[in-house]
Amino acid sequence: MNNDLIKSALSKVIYPGFQKDIVSFGFVDNIETDGLSATIEITITSSANEVEEQLRHDIQFQLAKIGIDKVYIKMHKPAVPRETSSKGKNIAPNIKNFVMVSSGKGGVGKSTTSVNLAIALAMSGKKVGLLDADVYGPNIPRMLGVENVRPEIVGNRVKPINAYGIEMISMGSLMGSGEALLWRGSLIIKTIQQFLTDIMWSPLDVLVIDMPPGTGDAQLTLAQSVPVTAGVTVTTPQAVALDDAERSLNMFKKLHIPMAGIVENMSGFICPETGKEYDIFGKGTGEALAKKYDTFLLAEIPIDPTIRVGGDNGSPITYHKPNSEIAKRYMKSAELLWEEIEKINSLGIASNDMIQPTTGSGSACSTSSASSSASSCSTTSAKSSSSSNSCGCH
Ligand SMILES: Nc1ncnc2c1ncn2[C@@H]1O[C@H](COP(=O)(O)OP(=O)(O)OP(=O)(O)O)[C@@H](O)[C@H]1O
Ligand SMILES: [Mg+2]
Repeated sequence: MNNDLIKSALSKVIYPGFQKDIVSFGFVDNIETDGLSATIEITITSSANEVEEQLRHDIQFQLAKIGIDKVYIKMHKPAVPRETSSKGKNIAPNIKNFVMVSSGKGGVGKSTTSVNLAIALAMSGKKVGLLDADVYGPNIPRMLGVENVRPEIVGNRVKPINAYGIEMISMGSLMGSGEALLWRGSLIIKTIQQFLTDIMWSPLDVLVIDMPPGTGDAQLTLAQSVPVTAGVTVTTPQAVALDDAERSLNMFKKLHIPMAGIVENMSGFICPETGKEYDIFGKGTGEALAKKYDTFLLAEIPIDPTIRVGGDNGSPITYHKPNSEIAKRYMKSAELLWEEIEKINSLGIASNDMIQPTTGSGSACSTSSASSSASSCSTTSAKSSSSSNSCGCH
């Protein structure tokens, strides 16, 4: 009996909630055996007791099959996530934390970041949901490889789709890919609210929300409907993109959303053949921006064809290449993000009380500081009347 045999038995133990085994995930730290008994040391990423129990059972079962009945399992796992302390209106109360992933302009990698952050959070043991709030251009189903999966309808509610250990819902899953709807502001407001109330989310540690580009109705509605715990701004490093990133950071400020940090995406390109680094869009500008806004640089993610291919064919890099440098950076950024969430919760600063509409019903946009004449500041007028609109939706 040698370690390789034991390792091969352990590679039949699937990590609960995923389709991959504990050896491929790199969770097995050490194996010792005298031929009759074995000591297995593993480090898992979940704090949930059910996961530990399931793994203990499955490890014993697989090792018994190769004749080892005495198994000692040393299991290392993270501490139980802290409860939320957020205040204010919350129309999705079984979700503890909300992370809004935003950017000033399109195409910088919000959806890619949202997918990989959500998977990294799930791989580190959190119960995670991913809401594709980009009703104009829903890309998340394709990025998770579930573009042809339709969600189950139960009564007048909808079950989220499961993929890569996370729960997900998207307009793309409800409508079918390629279909287009002409969205009016009022429809967006209603849809965002329904995404929170009519989707049967499990009790989640965190819901990652992939926003449409810019700072508009969807952002405001979301912030008024749930107390967003933390905002993440995605930007590319060139100066013109940074101007847009500042718009996203200022929106978080106006909406009283605590900022968790910045992801600098498409940050340099490392040539796979030579290892030489090229600054296609520049590199390293996120750090200064983070300092200016008193927040953190969560990650610098280089341009890498594997990311694009992973997005196109539904195989996210964090899950499929967990040992790659980029996956490690996403895992690290998820760890930093979670630390920020815990900090925000311990300070109790996530609250949307300040941005609730105080004027006539039907106004989605007027805030306590908005003038009463803005009571019909519905989405379209909000865009054109930036002076009377203090809620950041322009
Ligand atoms: N670091 C990267 N390296 C290579 N390709 C990337 C990287 N980040 C994103 N991409 C690719 O760039 C394209 C745009 O990314 P993505 O869809 O995530 O951006 P977005 O900000 O969500 O766009 P939109 O504003 O349209 O919603 C996608 O094809 C994606 O796979
Ligand atoms: Mg997107």
